[in-house]
Amino acid sequence: MMANFQDLRTLVKSRTPFIMVESREEARALLLMQKVARAMPRLLFQWTATQGLLRLDIADAKPQSFAAGADDVLAQIRANKSASIYVLCDFHPWLHDSPVRVRQLRDIALAADTTGHTIVFLSHALTLPPELQGHAASFSLALPNENTLREIIAEEARLWSQAHPGQKVLADPLAHDMLVRLLAGLTHADAQRLARQAIVDDGAIRDADLPEINRSKFRMMNMEGVLQFEYDTRGLADIGGLRHLKQWLAIRRQPFLGGAEALLDTPRGVLLLGVQGGGKSLAARVIAGSWQVPLLRMDAGALYNKFHGETERNVRETLRLADAMSPCVLWIDEIEKAMAQDGNDNGTSSRVLGTLLTWMAERKSRVFLVATANDISRLPPELMRKGRFDEIFFVDLPDAASRADIFRIHLGKRKIPVENIDFTAVAAASERFTGAEIEQAVVSARYRAHAGSAAMTTADLLAELRETKPLAVTMAEKVEGLRRWAAERAVMAD
Ligand SMILES: Nc1ncnc2c1ncn2[C@@H]1O[C@H](COP(=O)(O)OP(=O)(O)OP(=O)(O)O)[C@@H](O)[C@H]1O
Ligand SMILES: [Mg+2]
Repeated sequence: MMANFQDLRTLVKSRTPFIMVESREEARALLLMQKVARAMPRLLFQWTATQGLLRLDIADAKPQSFAAGADDVLAQIRANKSASIYVLCDFHPWLHDSPVRVRQLRDIALAADTTGHTIVFLSHALTLPPELQGHAASFSLALPNENTLREIIAEEARLWSQAHPGQKVLADPLAHDMLVRLLAGLTHADAQRLARQAIVDDGAIRDADLPEINRSKFRMMNMEGVLQFEYDTRGLADIGGLRHLKQWLAIRRQPFLGGAEALLDTPRGVLLLGVQGGGKSLAARVIAGSWQVPLLRMDAGALYNKFHGETERNVRETLRLADAMSPCVLWIDEIEKAMAQDGNDNGTSSRVLGTLLTWMAERKSRVFLVATANDISRLPPELMRKGRFDEIFFVDLPDAASRADIFRIHLGKRKIPVENIDFTAVAAASERFTGAEIEQAVVSARYRAHAGSAAMTTADLLAELRETKPLAVTMAEKVEGLRRWAAERAVMAD
């Protein structure tokens, strides 16, 4: 608030005729103007189309409805001899529809040096006619900083206690810190609303409040479209194998979520390479789920189709919004689709890559990038260079132990009794199967068992496995190529 006040006072003092404020927070902007007007001092008026002019620097002033019209208020400003600030709320529709009014405004601007008048245009969105642009400065309300956010939460807690005499808001310290971080990037009013939402149901701030707050924040920031908020995240127990990746993630959770001092070396992201159906997409869900942060998915393919001609702007917007949602996981599935276009796109894809690389190098926020790919030939070398990702993991075909794990997971998910399943046998019979293919075998074996109206047996599974030719066999050459390539450049995820 302090920086806001000083910046705005400087603008008024320097006799800037027009100050443009793009904001939906009218009440807060008006409060700030009152402080500035008092400090200068200046007379202060507010104008709205419904009420006309209203003195704001005098308590209990009555609307001066004689100046309700847009032209009336300008005439009034020109006639006023005492230096004043006029805040014109939602004046934007009247800025572009009359050349006479534009000239009138220009006259006011040219006389500002002697009159000392300042006009503040306050609307959610604003553009000035070119004739007036040289007379204007933009001003944006600073977003609340960490201290202000803590005060906002404390104030909401106080209001809750007031409404519930004798009760105090309970705050789990870690959840409270997390909430403060979550509210960053929001306006004062939105932060207030979310703090209230966290407290109101049970008078407590706890871990369980955070996912819902994240979703509300996502909606408030109007990110739907370019980014998907993925509700479906998973835990470590939902994925078989990938032991190395799991360990790697476990020891990085705290550094990723940790205090501001650790930001320098905070984990930044991984690239997951591997065959189709190997569990890369599932792994992305597991990372967000096991770290308990929101998962935002950027659909690389759709980026081009949906927003034809605006791709780069959308990438920038996406990254900015992900920054605002931090801590979070930003998941770019099948990143090769966003990168290697056929070269006939006027350089769009290389500019997209540039935007992404710059962001990866410079970002200061806790956004963990998870990119997946299965076609390495289409991945640009710039993306693979050391230092872009913390690690490039290769998700290989699962070994016997991992395959047994994966059988267990998918049988368990379907509540199929496993006492009589011979895991050594099914693991041995599923060599070169991917996780997706193992899941498919479980699904088919279940039909087979039900057809004979019995509980599933090892024999049902083995029969299905015998009938399936895994991709790694039918496309052996391609899979081997990928493995060889990865052996030199990537770390094994399992
Ligand atoms: N390691 C695993 N553990 C448990 N389930 C697995 C595993 N790997 C794959 N699956 C199952 O197979 C499904 C498909 O896997 P997933 O979509 O994650 O593979 P992918 O590597 O992303 O494949 P693609 O390259 O085709 O996108 C998963 O949703 C999951 O049910
Ligand atoms: Mg996938």
